[in-house]
Amino acid sequence: MKPNLPDLLTLNGDLAHDRAPQLLALINSLPGQPWTEAELLIPLPDKFRYSRIWMTGDQVVGVVLASRKHKSVHIHQIVLEAAYRQLGLGRKVYRQIAAQAEADGLTLLTAHCLLDDMGALAFHTTLGLSLDSQYDDPQDGSVYGRLSVPLKVLLETGTQP
Ligand SMILES: CC(C)(COP(=O)(O)OP(=O)(O)OC[C@H]1O[C@@H](n2cnc3c(N)ncnc32)[C@H](O)[C@@H]1OP(=O)(O)O)[C@@H](O)C(=O)NCCC(=O)NCCS
Repeated sequence: MKPNLPDLLTLNGDLAHDRAPQLLALINSLPGQPWTEAELLIPLPDKFRYSRIWMTGDQVVGVVLASRKHKSVHIHQIVLEAAYRQLGLGRKVYRQIAAQAEADGLTLLTAHCLLDDMGALAFHTTLGLSLDSQYDDPQDGSVYGRLSVPLKVLLETGTQP
Protein backbone atom coordinates (compact mmCIF):
# COMPACT_ATOMS: atom_id res chain seq x y z
CA MET A 1 0.00 0.00 0.00
CA LYS A 2 1.29 3.48 -0.89
CA PRO A 3 1.85 5.79 2.12
CA ASN A 4 0.14 9.19 2.30
CA LEU A 5 2.43 11.73 0.70
CA PRO A 6 4.38 13.89 3.15
CA ASP A 7 4.28 17.70 3.32
CA LEU A 8 7.11 19.56 1.62
CA LEU A 9 8.50 22.61 3.45
CA THR A 10 11.34 25.02 2.74
CA LEU A 11 14.09 24.34 5.26
CA ASN A 12 14.97 27.46 7.22
CA GLY A 13 17.68 27.87 9.85
CA ASP A 14 15.35 27.45 12.84
CA LEU A 15 13.79 24.28 11.41
CA ALA A 16 17.24 22.85 10.61
CA HIS A 17 18.38 23.57 14.16
CA ASP A 18 15.24 22.15 15.80
CA ARG A 19 15.23 19.04 13.58
CA ALA A 20 18.99 18.48 13.49
CA PRO A 21 18.95 15.00 15.16
CA GLN A 22 16.30 13.67 12.74
CA LEU A 23 18.00 15.28 9.73
CA LEU A 24 21.40 13.88 10.69
CA ALA A 25 19.90 10.41 11.25
CA LEU A 26 18.50 10.46 7.70
CA ILE A 27 21.62 11.90 6.07
CA ASN A 28 23.95 9.61 7.98
CA SER A 29 21.94 6.54 6.98
CA LEU A 30 23.69 6.90 3.60
CA PRO A 31 27.20 5.64 2.86
CA GLY A 32 30.07 8.12 3.12
CA GLN A 33 31.56 10.33 5.80
CA PRO A 34 29.00 11.09 8.54
CA TRP A 35 27.84 14.70 8.72
CA THR A 36 28.17 16.73 11.89
CA GLU A 37 25.59 19.19 13.20
CA ALA A 38 27.96 22.04 12.30
CA GLU A 39 28.04 20.91 8.65
CA LEU A 40 24.27 20.61 8.61
CA LEU A 41 23.77 24.14 9.94
CA ILE A 42 26.54 25.96 8.06
CA PRO A 43 24.93 28.98 6.31
CA LEU A 44 25.93 28.54 2.65
CA PRO A 45 24.60 31.00 0.03
CA ASP A 46 20.83 30.62 -0.38
CA LYS A 47 20.90 27.31 1.49
CA PHE A 48 17.75 28.22 3.39
CA ARG A 49 16.07 29.26 0.16
CA TYR A 50 16.66 26.13 -1.93
CA SER A 51 16.71 23.36 0.72
CA ARG A 52 13.57 21.38 1.49
CA ILE A 53 12.29 18.98 4.12
CA TRP A 54 9.50 16.41 3.90
CA MET A 55 7.40 15.79 7.00
CA THR A 56 4.55 13.53 8.00
CA GLY A 57 3.07 14.97 11.17
CA ASP A 58 6.02 15.57 13.47
CA GLN A 59 8.40 13.20 11.67
CA VAL A 60 11.04 14.24 9.16
CA VAL A 61 10.89 11.67 6.32
CA GLY A 62 13.16 13.33 3.79
CA VAL A 63 15.51 16.20 3.12
CA VAL A 64 17.19 17.97 0.22
CA LEU A 65 20.11 20.24 1.10
CA ALA A 66 20.98 22.67 -1.66
CA SER A 67 22.76 26.00 -2.05
CA ARG A 68 23.85 28.44 -4.75
CA LYS A 69 27.31 28.24 -6.28
CA HIS A 70 27.90 30.99 -8.86
CA LYS A 71 25.18 30.39 -11.51
CA SER A 72 24.33 26.88 -10.27
CA VAL A 73 22.07 25.44 -7.63
CA HIS A 74 24.07 22.59 -6.05
CA ILE A 75 22.42 19.62 -4.36
CA HIS A 76 24.56 18.63 -1.38
CA GLN A 77 22.35 15.75 -0.32
CA ILE A 78 18.94 14.25 -0.96
CA VAL A 79 17.44 11.38 0.97
CA LEU A 80 13.97 10.03 1.59
CA GLU A 81 13.00 7.33 4.05
CA ALA A 82 12.65 4.03 2.20
CA ALA A 83 8.82 4.02 2.36
CA TYR A 84 8.69 7.31 0.42
CA ARG A 85 11.05 6.44 -2.43
CA GLN A 86 10.03 5.94 -6.05
CA LEU A 87 6.78 7.86 -5.60
CA GLY A 88 7.88 10.80 -7.75
CA LEU A 89 8.87 13.03 -4.80
CA GLY A 90 12.53 13.36 -5.82
CA ARG A 91 11.67 14.38 -9.37
CA LYS A 92 9.05 16.84 -8.14
CA VAL A 93 11.37 18.54 -5.67
CA TYR A 94 14.26 18.84 -8.17
CA ARG A 95 11.85 20.47 -10.61
CA GLN A 96 10.55 22.81 -7.92
CA ILE A 97 14.08 23.84 -6.90
CA ALA A 98 15.09 24.18 -10.57
CA ALA A 99 12.10 26.44 -11.31
CA GLN A 100 12.96 28.65 -8.35
CA ALA A 101 16.65 28.77 -9.32
CA GLU A 102 15.81 29.62 -12.92
CA ALA A 103 13.56 32.47 -11.77
CA ASP A 104 16.55 33.69 -9.70
CA GLY A 105 18.70 33.81 -12.86
CA LEU A 106 20.69 30.59 -12.30
CA THR A 107 21.33 28.22 -15.21
CA LEU A 108 22.56 24.83 -13.94
CA LEU A 109 21.73 22.19 -11.34
CA THR A 110 24.70 20.18 -10.03
CA ALA A 111 24.99 17.17 -7.72
CA HIS A 112 27.57 14.66 -6.50
CA CYS A 113 26.82 10.98 -6.36
CA LEU A 114 28.58 7.77 -5.35
CA LEU A 115 29.29 6.08 -8.67
CA ASP A 116 28.60 2.58 -7.37
CA ASP A 117 25.20 3.64 -6.01
CA MET A 118 23.15 2.49 -9.00
CA GLY A 119 19.82 3.76 -7.60
CA ALA A 120 21.09 7.30 -6.95
CA LEU A 121 22.86 7.38 -10.31
CA ALA A 122 19.73 6.11 -12.14
CA PHE A 123 17.62 8.77 -10.43
CA HIS A 124 19.96 11.56 -11.49
CA THR A 125 20.45 10.37 -15.07
CA THR A 126 16.69 9.87 -15.49
CA LEU A 127 16.26 13.54 -14.60
CA GLY A 128 18.76 14.47 -17.32
CA LEU A 129 21.94 14.93 -15.28
CA SER A 130 25.13 13.76 -16.95
CA LEU A 131 28.51 12.87 -15.53
CA ASP A 132 31.04 15.71 -15.91
CA SER A 133 33.97 14.22 -13.96
CA GLN A 134 34.79 11.96 -11.05
CA TYR A 135 36.98 12.05 -7.95
CA ASP A 136 38.16 9.76 -5.14
CA ASP A 137 37.16 10.70 -1.63
CA PRO A 138 40.50 10.71 0.24
CA GLN A 139 38.76 9.86 3.53
CA ASP A 140 36.89 6.70 2.55
CA GLY A 141 38.32 5.86 -0.89
CA SER A 142 34.89 5.95 -2.56
CA VAL A 143 34.55 7.21 -6.12
CA TYR A 144 32.09 10.07 -6.60
CA GLY A 145 30.78 11.59 -9.80
CA ARG A 146 30.10 15.27 -10.44
CA LEU A 147 26.87 15.59 -12.39
CA SER A 148 25.01 18.50 -13.91
CA VAL A 149 22.05 19.48 -16.04
CA PRO A 150 20.99 22.85 -17.46
CA LEU A 151 17.90 24.01 -15.55
CA LYS A 152 16.11 24.46 -18.85
CA VAL A 153 16.67 20.78 -19.73
CA LEU A 154 15.57 19.54 -16.31
CA LEU A 155 12.43 21.64 -16.50
CA GLU A 156 11.58 20.27 -19.94
CA THR A 157 11.58 16.65 -18.73
CA GLY A 158 8.68 15.02 -16.87
CA THR A 159 5.66 16.73 -15.35
CA GLN A 160 5.06 20.26 -14.10
CA PRO A 161 6.65 21.31 -10.74
C1 LIG B 1 17.50 8.89 -4.80
C2 LIG B 1 16.16 9.36 -4.24
C3 LIG B 1 16.33 10.70 -3.58
C4 LIG B 1 15.22 9.52 -5.46
O1 LIG B 1 13.98 10.07 -5.04
P1 LIG B 1 12.63 9.32 -5.43
O2 LIG B 1 11.51 10.14 -4.96
O3 LIG B 1 12.72 7.92 -4.96
O4 LIG B 1 12.70 9.37 -7.04
P2 LIG B 1 11.45 9.51 -8.03
O5 LIG B 1 10.37 8.60 -7.61
O6 LIG B 1 11.10 10.95 -8.18
O7 LIG B 1 12.08 8.97 -9.37
C5 LIG B 1 12.39 9.80 -10.49
C6 LIG B 1 12.91 8.91 -11.57
O8 LIG B 1 14.14 8.27 -11.14
C7 LIG B 1 14.00 6.86 -11.19
N1 LIG B 1 14.59 6.25 -9.99
C8 LIG B 1 14.47 6.69 -8.73
N2 LIG B 1 15.11 5.85 -7.88
C9 LIG B 1 15.59 4.83 -8.65
C10 LIG B 1 16.29 3.63 -8.39
N3 LIG B 1 16.64 3.30 -7.12
N4 LIG B 1 16.64 2.83 -9.41
C11 LIG B 1 16.30 3.15 -10.70
N5 LIG B 1 15.61 4.28 -11.02
C12 LIG B 1 15.26 5.09 -10.01
C13 LIG B 1 12.51 6.58 -11.14
O9 LIG B 1 12.21 5.37 -11.76
C14 LIG B 1 11.93 7.77 -11.87
O10 LIG B 1 11.95 7.57 -13.27
P3 LIG B 1 10.57 7.57 -14.11
O11 LIG B 1 9.87 8.86 -13.79
O12 LIG B 1 11.04 7.48 -15.51
O13 LIG B 1 9.83 6.40 -13.60
C15 LIG B 1 15.54 8.36 -3.23
O14 LIG B 1 15.27 7.15 -3.87
C16 LIG B 1 16.41 8.10 -2.03
O15 LIG B 1 16.27 8.78 -1.00
N6 LIG B 1 17.35 7.13 -2.13
C17 LIG B 1 18.29 6.85 -1.05
C18 LIG B 1 19.24 8.00 -0.81
C19 LIG B 1 20.07 8.32 -2.03
O16 LIG B 1 20.53 7.46 -2.76
N7 LIG B 1 20.29 9.63 -2.22
C20 LIG B 1 21.06 10.16 -3.33
C21 LIG B 1 22.42 10.50 -2.90
S1 LIG B 1 23.37 11.14 -4.31
